[in-house]
Order: sequence, then structure tokens, then C-alpha cells
Amino acid sequence: MRVEQNVNELEAMRQHEIMERLKVRLDKKKQELGRPLTYCSVCFGCQMNAKDSEKLEGILEKIGYERTESEEADFLIMNTCTVRENANLRVYGRLGQLKKYKKKNPDMMIALCGCMMQESLVVEKIKQSYRHVDIIFGTHNVFKLAELIENKLDNDGMIIDIWEGTTEIVEDLPSDRKYDFKCGVNIMYGCNNFCTYCIVPYVRGRERSRKPEDIIKEIKSLVADGVSEVMLLGQNVNSYGKNLEEPISFATLLQQVEQIEGLKRIRFMTSHPKDLSDELIEVMANSTKICKHLHLPMQSGSTKVLNDMNRRYTKEDYLKLVEKIKTAIPDISLTTDIIVGFPTETEEDFMDTIDVVKKVRFDSAFTFIYSKRTGTPAATMEFVASEEEIKDRFNRLLEEVQEIAKETCSKDEGKIMEVLVEGLDEQDESLLTGRLSNNILVHFPGEASLIGMYQNVKLKESKGFYYIGEMV
Ligand code: SAH
Ligand code: SF4
Ligand code: F3S
Repeated sequence: MRVEQNVNELEAMRQHEIMERLKVRLDKKKQELGRPLTYCSVCFGCQMNAKDSEKLEGILEKIGYERTESEEADFLIMNTCTVRENANLRVYGRLGQLKKYKKKNPDMMIALCGCMMQESLVVEKIKQSYRHVDIIFGTHNVFKLAELIENKLDNDGMIIDIWEGTTEIVEDLPSDRKYDFKCGVNIMYGCNNFCTYCIVPYVRGRERSRKPEDIIKEIKSLVADGVSEVMLLGQNVNSYGKNLEEPISFATLLQQVEQIEGLKRIRFMTSHPKDLSDELIEVMANSTKICKHLHLPMQSGSTKVLNDMNRRYTKEDYLKLVEKIKTAIPDISLTTDIIVGFPTETEEDFMDTIDVVKKVRFDSAFTFIYSKRTGTPAATMEFVASEEEIKDRFNRLLEEVQEIAKETCSKDEGKIMEVLVEGLDEQDESLLTGRLSNNILVHFPGEASLIGMYQNVKLKESKGFYYIGEMV
């Protein structure tokens, strides 16, 4: 294990050297052009991808690119998602449009990375139909961006570097944080669960946990830098630490994170119901820093469908778990993910989903129509329902979920609660937007100087999914 750590330290050093070299090279280029070089970073998909994009942006800034929101940049990087078909289609659509920018600026570089690039058919398609792409890499070698850019500058043609998997976790590389006061922190990579509909284990590889000391070190340095809220990230945080040389549970990690002075809020994503331990519930109930919010994807309410999905819990297990959580932490906010139209889902199965939704009363739910992912076990299953039936179920579910969420989310109306002020309201800049511990947003009049601070607000009026408040 020590040997591997050394390899990773060496790799990080090597990448830092490349960044230094590239910086000199790009400085020269800027002088020649008499203007700054810009980059645009586009990210699809989940929080894990967003975190990777922050790392990519950190590298690009370190070598001297300046951020722009315009896709007409000198360097464009698109971090892709492939969890559902429409995620892929969006990328192809954008790629087509980029061609015209590259015609105007032949030095422009286009890089693609992320989950979609881990699929060989996708890379083949890009090689054939989108020849204006310069660099393609995947989810396992994000830390290599500088090296790939250097390769591209020294060689003609498309640079393609996709790793099948990795055991490597390279620490201590730059990262550009989106917010000054809150930050996502990877605690593990990959997934071992192989839910039958899901592509993630194929494109993100096997579960690898970071060592607790590396996580704590990172959070301490974030706190020293002004961060007060962290979001611990993993596809299944409840199985954190099981495969470490010195195994440790997620609950124990949380207790260690809680000890960090100056840190005020701890969030985490995502929890698989099958691995959520009593120990974790207890730690959450006794914690003053862990936010009162749990995202607990149910996917379906039917035991038969859950079995076909390989989720490894039943309808009753899920309901029992929710009961246990609500008893231990009465003010918890529960959110979930639900898939409608899994191939084996009948009307009766769907009614089980509605039944669970009615019983649990989620604060919000992300609802998805099942999307076939080639290579996953569910892709070869026959559909028992028609497309129309599935659409109809989706609409019925959405209506149910929204009606319940409206009622559940307004339960704190009239109370005074603490928010972390995250920024100006996007619609009305005279208002600030703050986030409650339970993840619900509050908009209230206030000065921009409060951004990043904690503030007590009175929740004057519930608007269904957010509140209008006033400072007290
Ligand atoms: N690791 C997380 C989920 C990551 S993917 C977990 O296990 O909860 C985020 C969500 O996308 C999933 O919860 C699921 O609801 C949805 N999803 C994944 N694959 C899908 C597919 N093939 N079709 C439709 N939705 C899907
Ligand atoms: Fe996909 Fe299941 Fe892993 Fe979540 S736990 S990423 S749904 S395989
Ligand atoms: Fe998408 Fe990859 Fe996340 S497939 S949901 S970006 S892990």
C-alpha cells in the first residue's frame, strides 16, 4: 500500500512539472496573440462529474487559461454523462455546433471526457463523425489533462486516452472551487452494485475509497480557506471504507469530519438503502453538523421490480428503514430517485411505487423514465408495458410527488431557521437565496455582503418548493 502511495505522489509531481512547462508555453502564445487565452467548461451529469470538472478547471487555470462562459473559447472541455440516452444526445447536438467556432479559430482545442467516453462505441462514433475533437479521455485519468494537452500540442490528430479501470487515486492536484464557502469532497469513486438498469459501474469502475486521513486533510485545508459546508460524495457512501486496508465505516468517517473545527455543515450523497446502517442513523441523530437531509433513492416501490433491478431490498425493507429514520430524526427531510417504466413494471407494480410515495411523503423526488443502456442486464429484458402506458404512469407519479412535496415542504412555515446564504436570487437580484439544513431554499431581502454567511430567517410564506422569508 505504501508503495502505491509513492507511485501516486510521483504521478502528482510529474503532472505538476508538466503544468509548469505548459504554462511557459501558453504564456508565449498569449504574447504572440496579444490577448489572454480562454477556456469554457461544460459539465453534464451528477455531483461526481461536477467535482471532476472543478479539478479540470483547476488544471486549466494553473496553466494560464482564463474562464469564459462562451463556448467560443480557446479551449473547450465537455465533461459528459451517459446515465440516460438523452444525456448522450445533448452532447452530440452541442458537438455539431462547435464546428463553426473551430473554423473561425483553428487553434481552438476541443476536449471530451467523462462517463460517455468510457463507452467504446461512443469513441468510435466521435472518431468517425466529429473529427474536429482534439482530445478524448475518460473518468479514470482526469488528473492527466495537462499531459494530454501537451501531447496534442506536440502531435497531429486526435489524442485518445481511455483507461478501462484504475486502482490509482492521485491526491494533491489543483481544483477550482465554484463557491468560496461550500465544496464537494470525493470520499470514494466507482460503484460495485450493478443495478441492472445502470451504466455507472461500467463507466466509473469498481469502488475505491480514499483514506480517511486524506479526506480529513482536504477538508481541514478547505475550512482554512473559508469553506464551512462540505458535501461528501460517492455513488454509495454507505459502503465507504469497507475495502480499505484498515476498514472504517461511513458513520465513523462522519464522526471524524464532525470534529473539524470551523466546519459548520456536513452533507453527503448518495445513500443506497441496502447499506444504510443503524450506526449512521444514530450518528446523524446526535450530530449538530450533519444536515437534516437524506437522499435515499427508492427507484421502485415494487418488490418484484426491485428484485429485477438488483437493488437488494424489498418494499417493506424500504418502508421500515424510512420509519426508523423518521423516528430517530423527526425533522429529517427525505428525497429520492424513482424510475418509471422499468421493462418488467406492470400497472400493479407501478401502484406499489405510488403507495410508497404516499406513505413516505418525500420532500422531493427526481423521477425518470427508464432509459435502456446497452451493455446493462436490463437492456435485453422485454417490456411488458407500452410507451403510452409508461408516459401516463410518469405523469401520474409526477402529479402525486409534486402535490405531496408542496405540503411536506411547507411544514416549517412561520418558523425561524438558519440558512447559509448562497448567492443572489437568480430571478430577483434584490433578494438573497439561502439554504436550510434540510436543503430547502429561502429567498429573502438582503445585502450581497451576506453571501457565505449563516443567517436566521423567518419563513414567512411557503411557495411549494421554496420559502419567501425575512431576516430576523
Ligand atoms: N448511485 C446513485 C445513483 C446514480 S444515477 C444511487 O444508487 O442512488 C442517478 C439516478 O439516475 C438513479 O438513482 C436512477 O434513478 C437514475 N437512473 C440510472 N440509470 C437509469 C436508467 N437507465 N434509466 C433511467 N434512470 C436511470
Ligand atoms: Fe447505479 Fe446502482 Fe451504482 Fe447507483 S448503486 S450508481 S444506481 S449501479
Ligand atoms: Fe452521469 Fe457518470 Fe454521474 S453517467 S450520473 S456523470 S457517474
